[in-house]
Amino acid sequence: MRARIQLGIKNMDSMVYGGIPEGNQVALAGGPGTGKTLMGFEYLYHNAKGGNIGILFSVEEHTDKIIENAKSAFSDFTDIDDLIKSEKLIIYGSEESEMFMKRDLERSTYVFTEWVSNMQAMISHYHATRVVIDAISVMKMLISNPFDYRDMTMSLIGVLKELSATSLIIVELETAEKEKLVFTPEFFMYDGIIALYLSGEGSSRIQSMEIIKMRGTAHSFNTLPYEITSSGIRVLELPHGEDMEL
Ligand SMILES: Nc1ncnc2c1ncn2[C@@H]1O[C@H](COP(=O)(O)OP(=O)(O)OP(=O)(O)O)[C@@H](O)[C@H]1O
Ligand SMILES: [Mg+2]
Repeated sequence: MRARIQLGIKNMDSMVYGGIPEGNQVALAGGPGTGKTLMGFEYLYHNAKGGNIGILFSVEEHTDKIIENAKSAFSDFTDIDDLIKSEKLIIYGSEESEMFMKRDLERSTYVFTEWVSNMQAMISHYHATRVVIDAISVMKMLISNPFDYRDMTMSLIGVLKELSATSLIIVELETAEKEKLVFTPEFFMYDGIIALYLSGEGSSRIQSMEIIKMRGTAHSFNTLPYEITSSGIRVLELPHGEDMEL
């Protein structure tokens, strides 16, 4: 049986019966502001605490901003700086990859390839086994041909698999509403899909998550609410018959 990699997010590992199968490349898909970056950060944070090195590659936000937002949301995580200093938790913000991201339509697949090999070098250099990419969908804007985009996504997934990294690859969706969500063909390439939703309005807005698929394990089919608290993200309810304890 394959080893399980725990996300460390309260009650979420129970949704996949103990954790993500090691080496899985999982899409973390959600609309704007659903907590994708924070969830990715928290996964790396808990794993870093357990001695497993992780890197967050962002093409969205600068390193300082990512750390500042995480510290502000998760104010009980007082050892973030220590984990960063000891290179257990590595944040590689968008300022580091700007040179790869310059919009260059003629060379877009080349740019992507360069970005991936840079990532590959970093993962090997730090001996990282946990990876978060925030967000692959930025590449979709860069690569106009959908076939090229699928090929490039496939090659990225292949590289991460080869490196035995257990990864969350953030995919930005245009909607956070479950009913309006459409999974485009590239989702078939991932080993797993975790979808984050927002429903309701104003103060009655509810965030919820669903495991759409997860290769190599049984998983919950329920859509469960979650909240972002100072001590981490917490999935609120599990239905009867699903064990809360690991
Ligand atoms: N201190 C906090 N306490 C509770 N919730 C917070 C706190 N800080 C941020 N949030 C919630 O987290 C959300 C932002 O989280 P995050 O940046 O991870 O979302 P995202 O899905 O990555 O967004 P984007 O689509 O902009 O990249 C905010 O919209 C807010 O709802
Ligand atoms: Mg984000």
